[in-house]
Amino acid sequence: MPDLTLEQLKKLPLYTVERAGSKTFVSREQRASLTEVLGYEAWAWYQSFWYWIPGRLGWILRRLAYGPFLKKAGKNFHIAEFTSIQPPHMLELGEHAAISRYCIINARGGVKIGNYAGCGPMCQIISYSHRMYAEDDAKHPLDRGFESAPIVFEDDVWVGAHCTIMMGVTLHRGSIIGAGSVVTSDIPPYVIAAGAPARPIMLRKPAEEIMALIEVEKQKAMGGA
Ligand SMILES: CC(C)(COP(=O)(O)OP(=O)(O)OC[C@H]1O[C@@H](n2cnc3c(N)ncnc32)[C@H](O)[C@@H]1OP(=O)(O)O)[C@@H](O)C(=O)NCCC(=O)NCCS
Repeated sequence: MPDLTLEQLKKLPLYTVERAGSKTFVSREQRASLTEVLGYEAWAWYQSFWYWIPGRLGWILRRLAYGPFLKKAGKNFHIAEFTSIQPPHMLELGEHAAISRYCIINARGGVKIGNYAGCGPMCQIISYSHRMYAEDDAKHPLDRGFESAPIVFEDDVWVGAHCTIMMGVTLHRGSIIGAGSVVTSDIPPYVIAAGAPARPIMLRKPAEEIMALIEVEKQKAMGGA
């Protein structure tokens, strides 16, 4: 393994595991189906009864109220007040996962937050969006349908306040995102990244160790390990 410095690591293109076919397209008509609309409405109202309750009592009540509706609810997860989740059945929370106040979790494309992972206040986790480009580009963006791709926070990931995490991004184990960042591509393990778009600014382990972990992840992604 070459003797990499932080400066050299910063210059490497951040790898993004190709997830062929993982972007899902949904037409406006599908989105407007009765099941979709009623599901959205029911959860929006249900959530509004719980989402404002302050303090630790709020954490406990939301754990009880939201847990059964989540795709996965790990032991001792907590969701602080004024955070909005939609839809709950696409959100997986690991053990001790923590979501701070005033966050928007757009989980339609799938959001997975690992064990001891989470985010600070006012973060936006956007796994689903209006389709910006389509064959008929002449249409208004709101008429072009929707696209989605899963977002993953692996274990021990921490995202600072006021960050935006874009669809399809994986934050690998132990990575940290600086406050106010916009994350548009995968962040390697044990790297501290910041800025818009987020780029590595510091390492939490020797660069060689990180490069070795990246290789293992790449092999896994290619089905070779
Ligand atoms: C990323 C972070 C952990 C780094 O902290 P640190 O180790 O003390 O780093 P420093 O302040 O020494 O900064 C190191 C470099 O990164 C830059 N930097 C730090 N945080 C940054 C950020 N959020 N966005 C852009 N650049 C950032 C600094 O400007 C500095 O650059 P320079 O070397 O060119 O001067 C910290 O800045 C941060 O953003 N923490 C999140 C806090 C938060 O959101 N808390 C909410 C409660 S959960």
